[in-house]
Amino acid sequence: MNAKLRVLIALVFAIFVSQAGAQDLGVKKGKALYEQYCIGCHQAGAVGKVGFAPSLSNNEFLSIVSADFLADTIKNGVEGTGMGPQGALGDEKIRAIVSYLQSLSPVSGSRAEEVAKQPAARGDAKKGAVMFQEVCSTCHGPHGIGFDAGGSGPAVGTPGFLKHATDGYIRTTIKEGRGNTMMKGFVGPEGMANLTSQEIEDIVTYLRTAPAK
Ligand code: HEC
Ligand code: HEC
Repeated sequence: MNAKLRVLIALVFAIFVSQAGAQDLGVKKGKALYEQYCIGCHQAGAVGKVGFAPSLSNNEFLSIVSADFLADTIKNGVEGTGMGPQGALGDEKIRAIVSYLQSLSPVSGSRAEEVAKQPAARGDAKKGAVMFQEVCSTCHGPHGIGFDAGGSGPAVGTPGFLKHATDGYIRTTIKEGRGNTMMKGFVGPEGMANLTSQEIEDIVTYLRTAPAK
């Protein structure tokens, strides 16, 4: 191997190691910050607490959520829910917390772009309302108001949630559910109810009307 090539390889390796190191530092710092500011509600390892704060550690969630969605939710909170804004932490600390949350899943963000680009739902809001009432409201409350109704599911019909969530994000969550939570998928024989694609479109179209204003 010639000397120049050896120097080049050493250089590339050094850059690689220093980047990996920087990332670890972010995750470590983020974990400490998480344990200071978030653990009381989202619990150790971000597994969530039924009826109180959602799990942030399942692959289904972390694979469809972008770093920006996470950072924005931490910064601005989810209006009208127990998730208050934490903007006072500042961007750097928020970024570290995001790195920590993303480190909890091997597939973090992998589908975020694809899911965000999915087409808008095309359904019948009236049919969706009936279906939501029948199938979803036991956990998410009437009109999707969330934990305030006393069920296990967070707010999904409020402007605060809908501002962050794309139709693709809602659609994918209904189809696949969220591992390690009571939100099971709604497609196929294993689903809580085997909804057709059209029924799912109807529900997403209904939720888009922000029924829980
Ligand atoms: C006082 C309790 C509380 C604290 C403290 C708290 N959260 Fe939350 N968080 C909630 C609740 C409740 C929700 C669900 C709101 C809803 O009904 O949509 C939530 C939602 C979220 C979501 C959106 C999850 C999803 O599935 O859309 C993220 C991300 C999040 N919190 C991150 C954090 C981080 C990071 C911290 C610490 C900086 C934190 N939260 C601190 C209660 C809390
Ligand atoms: C058995 C209770 C239950 C039922 C029934 C249920 N959900 Fe959920 N849902 C949950 C729980 C619990 C969560 C939060 C999971 C977590 O901790 O991340 C959730 C999360 C969600 C989310 C993600 C919210 C967010 O902040 O990211 C959406 C969207 C959703 N549910 C829609 C629906 C729809 C639509 C239906 C009906 C077709 C439905 N759910 C039925 C319990 C339920």
